[in-house]
Amino acid sequence: MLKKITAFCLVSLFGIGLSFATPPADAPAPDEGMWLPLYLKKLNERDMKADGAHFSADDVYSVNHSSFKDAVVCLNGGQCTGEIVSADGLVLTNHHCGYDNIAEHSTVENNILKNGFFAKSRSEELVNKEFTMQILVFMEDETSLINNAVKDITSDDLKRVKIRGMRDSIAKAASQDNKYKAEVKGFFAGNDYYLVVYQVFTDVRLVGAPPAAIGKFGGDVDNWMWPRHTGDFSMFRIYTGPDGNPAPYSPNNIPYKPKYFFPVSLKGEKQNDFAMVMGFPGSTSRYVTSFDLEFNRDCNNPASIDVLETEMSIMKKDMDANEAVKLKLAANYASLANTEKYLVGQELMLKHGAGFDAKRKEEKEFQDWAVSDKDRKDKYGNLLNDIKENNDKLRSIEPQLSYFFGMFNSRLLSYGFSFYAFNKYTDDNKSKPTRAELDTIAKGIVPAAEDYFKDSSLATDKKVLKALLLDLYNNVPEEKRPAAITNIIKNDKKAPNAESAINNFIDDLEKKSVIVDQKKNKEFLENPKLKKLKKDPYYNFMCDFVQYYFMLLKPVYDNASQDLSKKHKLYMQGLREMQPNKTFYPDANSTLRVTYGNVLPYHPRDAVAYKYYTTYEGILEKSNPKDPEFIVPQHELDLFAKKDFGRYAQNDTLRINFIANTDITGGNSGSPVLDADGNLIGLAFDGDWESMIGDLSFNPATNRTICVDIRYVLWVIDKYAGATNLINEMKIVTN
Ligand code: ARG
Repeated sequence: MLKKITAFCLVSLFGIGLSFATPPADAPAPDEGMWLPLYLKKLNERDMKADGAHFSADDVYSVNHSSFKDAVVCLNGGQCTGEIVSADGLVLTNHHCGYDNIAEHSTVENNILKNGFFAKSRSEELVNKEFTMQILVFMEDETSLINNAVKDITSDDLKRVKIRGMRDSIAKAASQDNKYKAEVKGFFAGNDYYLVVYQVFTDVRLVGAPPAAIGKFGGDVDNWMWPRHTGDFSMFRIYTGPDGNPAPYSPNNIPYKPKYFFPVSLKGEKQNDFAMVMGFPGSTSRYVTSFDLEFNRDCNNPASIDVLETEMSIMKKDMDANEAVKLKLAANYASLANTEKYLVGQELMLKHGAGFDAKRKEEKEFQDWAVSDKDRKDKYGNLLNDIKENNDKLRSIEPQLSYFFGMFNSRLLSYGFSFYAFNKYTDDNKSKPTRAELDTIAKGIVPAAEDYFKDSSLATDKKVLKALLLDLYNNVPEEKRPAAITNIIKNDKKAPNAESAINNFIDDLEKKSVIVDQKKNKEFLENPKLKKLKKDPYYNFMCDFVQYYFMLLKPVYDNASQDLSKKHKLYMQGLREMQPNKTFYPDANSTLRVTYGNVLPYHPRDAVAYKYYTTYEGILEKSNPKDPEFIVPQHELDLFAKKDFGRYAQNDTLRINFIANTDITGGNSGSPVLDADGNLIGLAFDGDWESMIGDLSFNPATNRTICVDIRYVLWVIDKYAGATNLINEMKIVTN
């Protein structure tokens, strides 16, 4: 699954506790849990083997010899996952993970997003401007080191400073003068700390992608749902300098020689077969309380959905009208649509009460446990109530808080916001800047400006900004609206209503503002003049808009959200203390995790049973030349008609997707799905509709990982695209 944009998700991250001291007496069912590879031996190996694995924990993660972890790559710092499948650094990931790059290489004349692309030789591989792949070198538990160092410090602030300092210095030492990327990350709601060290590769080239009609078959209609028929894969290659080390692009670079790569299996999967997924899940909040869920349900989700839908409907119209605009906005649109549908699904489930029973039961147990002992009562007795009260404080600034954050979905607004850096000088009470000081600020904005104008469709962006301003205006009661917006309406005496005042204001900006027009923007940044900025209506609007946040929202927001994260941390600590024999796993935080379980069907609702796999016949059933989401390429139809499946067939049919009860989330997209022998049988690419609540509360009965069957991937590469060069490069096993 693709990492979701949590632009304004207010629920602070939170995790389930972990106690390493005891064996997993009442461990959760093996399907739940994003386990740390570091502790697989201690906590999971027995379970994993009982579940069917033929390999050991040491085969999965080792710092002494090559292991599976050396073939699992993290894309763009946590956006997705990929896996190495050849001795020459060939990487498989999802189509939706390569989407941005595929779109970037596409033009109206040579539209590889639409038509697909497979390099028939290394020289045809396409250099990506921005794409990094990183591989974990090792991870290390720093919890006791850090906690011991601060145990006598009583002030919270001093403690925080000391911890920050230690985290930075541990990471700095591990980076060996920037040879590696190293960070010390918080786990279990900030109770534990782990050092993670990566090798980062920056020369990553596009090798292959099916046409979107295969890679995104079913589009947003089928997204987040089972049964599915999507060939969601794309291929890249990591290159290194001639010495084998990471290096920026150069024609002299050579394909990466990995420490390990996954063999690919044609054997296929049966119901109940062992399945393991390794990858970089981005974020879950499994142990938030029922009060946090209520806040999401009532405040954050509805506003986020509204903002996203407003923005998407405008983008869609413009994209449908113009092919070039479509290419420019396609990746951004796909990601917004993905988030919107996720939130809609989650909201539906929350409204039906999903997740609440389990949380409330646990909270009751916790409260009873907390008050049954004097010391515990002091420490935890009021904790749940505090969490509730902090959520109530957040509610007191809703819906304006969610709509305020939602405004930053406008690219024009978030880019324009970079000019706020001048604010310290345009405020009349402040000191006069020197020329050099102004130039420094301007220089700092240049990359954001270049980035913005590079792939912006200003006409669409203006429409989006207008619509979001109006949306805020309509949804936030008058007395709580930002003056920045009210003033636009007040100052336009001629406009018959709020909508036309907002429209006039935005329409005028190209003429009147140095921020919106590219040429004026460039001139201004080369020679920044405060006088100009002080008269700039868009700049002034933004300063007022942000001021509204600083004055009216931020004090409440900061106070409540900071206290919430402290209280969530304490709740985590309490839960671990309450259940000393339970094996906990930490919430996802874009570090490498292992989840294992079985290939399994499920019952989504009364009287409905889903099989665990789909076949090409489902593609034919869904095929609809009139619906852009369900067009099947003619060449694929021809091959299907001949049943030309070759060695990729199972019982005369071609399997497309399958499901397993493994535990994944956004960031896991493209993750390798391995069989009991550690061979690649598929790529994880989605979650089912019933698991939309899964990031907050896991339901083993209905939570499923949707995977593309590796044999469909190989069939597309081989039979559909004729890229036998790539097939020959992989190690294909049949048993
Ligand atoms: N739901 C998938 C995920 O989050 C993304 C699938 C992309 N496809 C789409 N139709 N937008 O990983």
